[in-house]
Amino acid sequence: MRTAIHPNVTVVDHPLIVHKLSLMRDKTTPSSVFRQLLREISLLLGYEVLRDLPVELRPIETPVGPMDARFIKGKKLVFVPILRAGVGLLDGLLDLVPSARVGHIGLYRDPKTLQPVQYYCKLPEDIAERLVVLVDPMLATGNSVAAAVALLKARGVKDIKLVCLLSAPEGIAALTAAHPDVRVYTAAVDSHLNDHGYIVPGLGDAGDRMYGTK
Ligand code: URA
Repeated sequence: MRTAIHPNVTVVDHPLIVHKLSLMRDKTTPSSVFRQLLREISLLLGYEVLRDLPVELRPIETPVGPMDARFIKGKKLVFVPILRAGVGLLDGLLDLVPSARVGHIGLYRDPKTLQPVQYYCKLPEDIAERLVVLVDPMLATGNSVAAAVALLKARGVKDIKLVCLLSAPEGIAALTAAHPDVRVYTAAVDSHLNDHGYIVPGLGDAGDRMYGTK
């Protein structure tokens, strides 16, 4: 099930996803369950994000006879989680495409300005030739994701998709204005951001929920 709310945004609101997301939102859900649910949702979001991968025909023999079978056509992929919460979506995506490369971008939000500060960046050398799937569970102000996209574009990347679990309208507006070429896949668009830049009703701080750091 896919809902469109903005030409660049696909809301993947399949019942399996919304059910798992509701469990994640519940503040009594323990970290171990939260991480497992995030991984399961990443598989379901990944299914939609990779829907357009090109396929090619290759001859094979089934036990019954020859056929031209469809295989993914060697499209080179990189998954790039934004540290630290983006890591929670990575393993599910790697389950789907084990041969994908992985880059990491470390950004934290300055709590006063809410502006992103980069502290780490390690990307494959040939990233410019690849489809980059950027992953961050929360599209809140959009500042971190926009900064990560700018960094990727500075490395020559032309094809970028964003997977995020939850989005705020403010983040969608900011990202699509700054980078109208980036397609966004999200499980839900919530009401708004609060004064601290948290998504309402949201699920709290995704990194803290994943790792029990609060
Ligand atoms: N980052 C989070 O982890 N949660 C929010 O609600 C906003 C940004």
